[in-house]
Amino acid sequence: MKRYLIAGNWKMNKTTGEAIELAQKLVESLKDVNDRDILICPPFTALYSVYQVIKGTNIKLGAQDVFYENSGAFTGEISPIMLKDVGCEYVIIGHSERRHIIGETDELINKKIKAAINNGLKTILCVGELLEEREAGKTLEVVKTQIEKGLNGVSKEEMKNVVIAYEPVWAIGTGKTAKPEDAQEVHAYIRELLSKLYSKEIADETIIQYGGSVKASNIDSLMAMPDIDGALVGGASLVAEEFTRIVKFIKQ
Ligand code: PGA
Repeated sequence: MKRYLIAGNWKMNKTTGEAIELAQKLVESLKDVNDRDILICPPFTALYSVYQVIKGTNIKLGAQDVFYENSGAFTGEISPIMLKDVGCEYVIIGHSERRHIIGETDELINKKIKAAINNGLKTILCVGELLEEREAGKTLEVVKTQIEKGLNGVSKEEMKNVVIAYEPVWAIGTGKTAKPEDAQEVHAYIRELLSKLYSKEIADETIIQYGGSVKASNIDSLMAMPDIDGALVGGASLVAEEFTRIVKFIKQ
């Protein structure tokens, strides 16, 4: 049975000491939550230390990116094996900041997805449109291309290790959240697309998270939507009280 997944993407924030402190607070404040999955994604430098804090608790560890080779002359990159070695169960791939600031393509993202899955990591594939694409009525087309290319060659069997995060780029870090109904429309479209690409059963079982200015004050209304199965939270995941309330969303 599918469980809701609330994930915190800490982005390029927190030194090791700060990361440990935040993780310790979350272990305490979230210890009674057992009906949904909780994930935190600190920067690479803090993964090992944070894992020592959350090991054996209900909080899982994820990374924010990965490379597609297991080892070799790839200066500056981190492999799936290395992520597993420090306790990661998940990895975020294709985040809009990597697509639009670093210049990652759908082809590169697809290689990363396949490498991560092959090494036993669960992947969160991020998709979402730019403001000008939304205004031009291209949202569904953009999301369709990102999903089809991102999942190219991923089998039905492997889909149990894939989470999709719909994150409209104009809503990330801007304080502008998509209206729950607008997010729902895209989520329903994504589920229909997965149903065509794979099967209805796989589409129903796949977690589709919403991301983009998720806060304690809007999480309940987002999670009230039938096709929103979780959230990928950036800024608000850096504050223990705020992230705790988000994880403890009340299903309306
Ligand atoms: P935000 O970021 O919550 O700060 O808007 C979300 C994300 O980029 O995953």
